[in-house]
Amino acid sequence: MDGSGRALSPGANALLQDALEGLSQRQKRLSPKWLYDQRGSALFEEITGLPEYYLTRTEAAILTEYAAELAGLVPEGGALVEFGSGASVKTRTLLDAGDHFAAYVPIDISANFLHQTAHGLRAHYPRLEIAPVVADFTAPVRLPPHLDAMAKVGFFPGSTIGNLPPEAATDLLRHARRWPGAQGFILGADLVKDEATLVAAYDDAQGVTAQFIGNILHRLNAELGADFDTGAFAYRATWNAALARIDMELVSTRAQTVSLPGARIDFAAGEAIHVSASRKYTEQTLAQLVVPAGWRVEQLLTDEDRAFAVAVLLPQ
Ligand code: SAH
Ligand code: AVI
Repeated sequence: MDGSGRALSPGANALLQDALEGLSQRQKRLSPKWLYDQRGSALFEEITGLPEYYLTRTEAAILTEYAAELAGLVPEGGALVEFGSGASVKTRTLLDAGDHFAAYVPIDISANFLHQTAHGLRAHYPRLEIAPVVADFTAPVRLPPHLDAMAKVGFFPGSTIGNLPPEAATDLLRHARRWPGAQGFILGADLVKDEATLVAAYDDAQGVTAQFIGNILHRLNAELGADFDTGAFAYRATWNAALARIDMELVSTRAQTVSLPGARIDFAAGEAIHVSASRKYTEQTLAQLVVPAGWRVEQLLTDEDRAFAVAVLLPQ
């Protein structure tokens, strides 16, 4: 039941269970996967164009430079399978260079956004099978069975892998290694750099990132009938050098109590909800993620400032 006594959909129920669990911890937390409803996906697209958010344009330039080589990893008649595809903007660089692909399989949790994107791709690439899969990639993703016979290359751009704890990141890569026909994996990873550049990328001057992270509270209100006073939570981004990650939090600006179906949650003034972490890598920490999953780093493609890396992974 939501705050007004209406039955919750299965999706909203999963959101509620996760929120109740996360908000009852001593360090309150919400999972970043709930950031992406229609509004969240649109706000993320806005982030990709911000001057401070160097990740997207840097990765796009690497993909453009090596497009033929990367598309060539997919054998004739094979499939490109993308995790967290979003608007599939950068993917088009690979699809344009991949006339020989039989299928493109975008996987995303943001269902409406995924279907709209798939619709646009079908119009643009009429000869390519576009086979979207709505799924949460923190659990093993079941691909359409008719793809079993096809060779597959995984694609996980954006450094979205950095939003997963290391064990979960390795699990995802291990599952992709076990797909029937797994040939390779193209992994985008943001690299460790100076703190000022990193903090600016996650706390932009226009406040779009603050809106994106704050959207999770709007979602709890809209979908569960919670009563968060969204104006009473301030956004904070901090660099944790020891863990090589940016932490994104919502900080309660005053003592307050919030109601969710089945619980009342107390916040002290200054108490934070941890919403997302964005891990940054070195060549070594990247290898530590992929090697236990059964891959080896065949090539590490970077820009000249070594801000971002696209790793080409092959089976060990
Ligand atoms: N690949 C795009 C979008 C990255 S944004 C780019 O590089 O610009 C991260 C994407 O991953 C979003 O589209 C979001 O909806 C999706 N996502 C986040 N967590 C997810 C999860 N647990 N399962 C499936 N998709 C997820
Ligand atoms: C999707 N992901 C790689 C983004 C990142 O950079 O961690 C999400 C994001 N959060 C705030 N800004 C961008």
